[in-house]
Amino acid sequence: MKEITNRQLTEMFEAGSPVTVIDVREPEAFASWHIEGSRNIPVGASLRSGDAAPLQHAAKDLPQDRPVVAVCNAGITSQKAAQVLESLGRDSYSLIGGMRGWSLAWSEARLALRSRPEAVFIQLRRHGKGCLSYLLGSAGAAVVVDPSLGIEVYQDIAQREGLTITTVVETHVHADHFSRARALCEAVGADLLIPRNQRVTFDYTPVEHGQSIEIGELKMQAISTPGHTGESTCYLIEDEALLSGDTLFVQSVGRPDLEKGDAGAEAGAHMLYNTLHDRLLSLGASITIYPAHTGSEIGFNGKPVSATLGEIKAEVELLSADEDSFVATILASLTAKPPNHECVISINEGKSDLGDADPLDIEAGPNRCAAT
Ligand SMILES: [Fe+2]
Repeated sequence: MKEITNRQLTEMFEAGSPVTVIDVREPEAFASWHIEGSRNIPVGASLRSGDAAPLQHAAKDLPQDRPVVAVCNAGITSQKAAQVLESLGRDSYSLIGGMRGWSLAWSEARLALRSRPEAVFIQLRRHGKGCLSYLLGSAGAAVVVDPSLGIEVYQDIAQREGLTITTVVETHVHADHFSRARALCEAVGADLLIPRNQRVTFDYTPVEHGQSIEIGELKMQAISTPGHTGESTCYLIEDEALLSGDTLFVQSVGRPDLEKGDAGAEAGAHMLYNTLHDRLLSLGASITIYPAHTGSEIGFNGKPVSATLGEIKAEVELLSADEDSFVATILASLTAKPPNHECVISINEGKSDLGDADPLDIEAGPNRCAAT
C-alpha cells in the first residue's frame, strides 16, 4: 500500500497531473470541508468493519487512466481504501494524515507591485483552511504577515528569494488558526509587530494607527480597522495593495462575533460598518485587496486570491447597504463559529499553551471567518 504526503499531492495538482481523489468520510464531514475537486465515496464505516464490497463497487466508476488518492479524517481508514483499490489493480495511494494533515497543505502565488516591480511579494495559501499569509521582500529584508503555516515554509521561501525575515506582523489576534508569528520570530530573530491591544500577554511591538513600517525600500502603513476584532489592522503597501486581514474579503467582510461573542456581535458589526466606510471604502478603486482568508476554493494555479477595491465594491452588495441593513444582514447570517475558536484565541493571546496537544487536532476544520 502506497502513501502520499500533502506536499506530493499539492505538487501533482500544481503540475496538472491527472489524479482522482476520493474522500471516504461521511457526507456531512465532506460537506463541511474537503479537498478541492475530490469525490465523496462514503465507505469509511464499511471499510472499518472489514467490508470492502461498497468500495469495490464504487471503484468501477472511477477513471481508469489515473492514480487514485484516498482521503479520510486522519489517514488510517484511507490506508484500507488504498489496499482495496490496489487489490483491484488500481494505482492507489493513501493521503498521510488525511484531512487533518491536509489542513497544512499550501501553495504560493507570486504577486506584483506596479510601482515596485523589483519587490518580492508572495501570497501563501493554506488550502485546507483558506488561510492566506504574505511574504514581502525588498533590498534583502522581508516581512511575513499573518503566518499560519509551519515556520519552515517561510524560512525556506525567504532563503530561496535571498531575503532575511526581519519583521513578522499580524493583522489581528486570530481565532481560527494558531499564529506561527511568535515561533517564526524566535527562529529567525525578527521583530514581532501586533496591533496594540489589551489581549495578548506576551511581549510584542505594538502597531499604532498611521504607523509606517519599513521593509527594505518599501513602506507599509497601518490602518486601524476595528470590527472583526477590536485591534484589527490593515496594512497599505505603497498606496497600491492592502493587506486587509479579516476586515474585508474578496466576497464578504469579517464576522464580528469571534472575539466579542454573540453578545458583542451587534456592537462589533456597527464598528465594522464605520471602519469600512470611514477608512477602507474611500481608498482608491484600483487598490488591490489581499485578505487573510478566503471561503472559496483556492485552486492550484498560482492565481492570487485578490480583487481590486472597485471590483469588491461592485460585487459585495453588503458594502452598499446603510448601517442598519448592514448590521441586520451580518447578524442574520452568522453561522457556526470555527471549531475550538475559544481555545485557539486563548493560545494566540498567550493565556494558555498547547501542552502536549497536536495543533492540528485543535485547528483542523473549515474556515469560518467571513460574516456571510
Ligand atoms: Fe480572524
